[in-house]
Amino acid sequence: MRNPYLTAVSSRLIYNIRQLAGTRSETHLLRGAELADLPCIDNAWLHIEGDQIAAYGPMSELPEVWDRQLEQRNAGAQLANRAGDTGAQLANPRNDGEAQLINASGRLVLPAWCDSHTHLVFAGSRESEFVDKLKGLSYADINAKGGGILNSARKLAATSEDTLFNDAWQRLNDLALLGTGAIEIKSGYGLTVEDELKMLRVIKKLKERSGLSIKATFLGAHTYPAAYKSDHQGYIGLIINDMLPVIAREGLADYIDVFCEEGFFSPAETEQVARAGMSHGLRPKIHANQLNLSGGVEVGVKLGALSVDHLETMDEKTISTLAASDTIGTLLPTAAFFLRMPFQPARALIDAGCAIALASDFNPGSSPSGNMNLVVAMSCIQMRMLPGEAINAATLNGAYAMSLGDRLGSITVGKKANLIVTRPVPSLAYMPYAFGSDLIGQVFINGEPIN
Ligand code: NIG
Ligand code: FE
Repeated sequence: MRNPYLTAVSSRLIYNIRQLAGTRSETHLLRGAELADLPCIDNAWLHIEGDQIAAYGPMSELPEVWDRQLEQRNAGAQLANRAGDTGAQLANPRNDGEAQLINASGRLVLPAWCDSHTHLVFAGSRESEFVDKLKGLSYADINAKGGGILNSARKLAATSEDTLFNDAWQRLNDLALLGTGAIEIKSGYGLTVEDELKMLRVIKKLKERSGLSIKATFLGAHTYPAAYKSDHQGYIGLIINDMLPVIAREGLADYIDVFCEEGFFSPAETEQVARAGMSHGLRPKIHANQLNLSGGVEVGVKLGALSVDHLETMDEKTISTLAASDTIGTLLPTAAFFLRMPFQPARALIDAGCAIALASDFNPGSSPSGNMNLVVAMSCIQMRMLPGEAINAATLNGAYAMSLGDRLGSITVGKKANLIVTRPVPSLAYMPYAFGSDLIGQVFINGEPIN
């Protein structure tokens, strides 16, 4: 059940790869100028054994055993052609126990995307708010009217766990086909004990059933429910006393998140909730500085958060605070794009030496797309990130922003074979350049092709 794509083949060679990107013998979180270094091998091969990357190198150094298999395959194809057969079967043997040989000529191979910030579990959609925004209402106006997060919370309360799961399952599989191999998913549209647990149980079920690597984040502190608008401590009490103990007991979350923003959770409230999560072993990942200089970055850094996310609104002081910390700054350009806000200052963050990741923020209110190809393209086009920087931030650093850097995010022997094989394209830079084009040829999750 765990891997729906299971086949009898456990050994695969991808050869004639135009460029194999993200090859690293060891990995660490990339900071500042290091982000620009995306090691690549031109004209390469990659061997997958089971669910792992077993070996890789240039075609000029292809081990003899593979050379022989390719020769046999070519001889077989020629024989079959002479006999009037198409040779397709021999050209791509998939019998039990045999290695699969995949000719990637003209294609690039890179690690699958690691999307470290999403709200993938939600009910319905909010395109009517989108139209309201086109007519001139701001994100804050919509929230003040009981729209926004509260609108999604009402929809979620009226939706069964099964429906939520089925919808999220569909979205997850759609994202996998777009190249996403690992994903973080937050709660935060429940806002009651029952519905926050419902969301987290859906995420747990996704973890159990999907071949993707999934991390769960408890975001009970996403906004104040209407009944607690003037009783903040009442709602925080509910989070601390009624939600967190059950979440910890049932192992429903890996991280705790708080939306630290004017009109949402103040820095002091953020700290209170995050510390309560930490006392249950949940490391903070904080929504910070989306709409204002909210103090969220400072709180996150003070608490040793794994990441502070959004960062549309930054000044020099906040950038240096982040740069001097071990906290990752996660940029969500599609949210800035959709809300027509200034993009995150990626260049200033990189120049200051910050460690940055890129993520989709997939959610029905501010980023109704989880397409990481678009995130990478937008980061280059609008934030002037170089293609190599954007790819590193959306793969290796994204993996670190989910504590998965030792298993995912690069072409490293022993790491999981979560890979994107592109369509034939001239270079890596072509990917963000030809934004909006479908350039994904094949995706491998845990060593298995899913399409
Ligand atoms: O990351 N900023 C807060 N939360 C989400 C949006 C939530 C919503 O509008 O539904 C975000 O952008
Ligand atoms: Fe978000």
